[in-house]
Amino acid sequence: MDAIELVSPFDSHLHLRDSDALKTTAPLACETFAGAIVMPNLTPPIDSIEAAQDYKARILSFCQKPFEPIVAIYLTDTLKGEVLDLVKIVKLYPSGVTTGSENGVKNIDQYDRLFAAMQEAGTILSVHGETNDFVLDREARFATIYESLAKRFPRLKIIMEHISSAALAKLLDRYENLFATITLHHLLYTLDDLLGSKLNPHLFCKPIVKTPADRAALRRLAFGAHSKVSFGSDSAPHIRSAKERFGAAGIFSAPVLLPKLVELFEENSALDYLQSFVSDNAQKIYDIKLPRKTISLIKKPFVVQEDINGFIPMCAKETIRWSIR
Ligand code: NCD
Ligand code: ZN
Repeated sequence: MDAIELVSPFDSHLHLRDSDALKTTAPLACETFAGAIVMPNLTPPIDSIEAAQDYKARILSFCQKPFEPIVAIYLTDTLKGEVLDLVKIVKLYPSGVTTGSENGVKNIDQYDRLFAAMQEAGTILSVHGETNDFVLDREARFATIYESLAKRFPRLKIIMEHISSAALAKLLDRYENLFATITLHHLLYTLDDLLGSKLNPHLFCKPIVKTPADRAALRRLAFGAHSKVSFGSDSAPHIRSAKERFGAAGIFSAPVLLPKLVELFEENSALDYLQSFVSDNAQKIYDIKLPRKTISLIKKPFVVQEDINGFIPMCAKETIRWSIR
């Protein structure tokens, strides 16, 4: 096959940042995706409906093509049960586990009433599932928290964001109300790529890429488009000096997402499942209807730029076998 069409690709986990960065991130998103769930970890965080509406308007002001940003609300104690009918998705960051989690949750038990209200309102809970344990164990240690939430709020839809470990992959079929997103970088890379030879700060993110066995577990889910999993890039740009001098966590994958996904799924004889993974599953999980937007890709090499407005993309200077027509 040397051409493929993807209908209404959707990114279930995207960081667009704000202000000047939107000039770079918003056009990239609306060129190739019909919509995205946009993460609220700005400074200050997007923690109210009003802030989310304003942010959405700022995003759309940089979009030349139709695009549906669904801005998640950052969970803080200012969020009240009464407004949940108007909220599609709430993002829980445990305090201190990642970029922009300073305002995150310190004591998760404090939110039981809110979770009960979310369950009634049909609001989705999106979770950055990591503890503050040893770096390779952080995600697996969060499994008990996911299990406790899933059991106590059986009608609350819980999204385990950017799962990176076999430990969490296993939970999916055990609880009806647990879902997951998977990134491109966790499908592609392991610790060897990050630090096996020379340290590559541009592959550093939370949760950290892990072992070949972990990657294999994620690949099994993605390459069969498991119905409880959707693609969420977690593209999270930081300017070059923040990455290279200060070691900020976050991978800027937005410039390569669809070509690289097609390349990877083709290599693994999984192209038949890509449409479900990048759009259909998400439309069902999040109960959204996307405007129809067809993206055509052709088998023609594309060399990834070295630098895009001061941000270094994932796969910089590499050649990808597929490009967007
Ligand atoms: C994200 C960021 O930079 O905002 N970083 C990351 O390493 N993934 C935050 C997040 O999703 O954890
Ligand atoms: Zn993220």
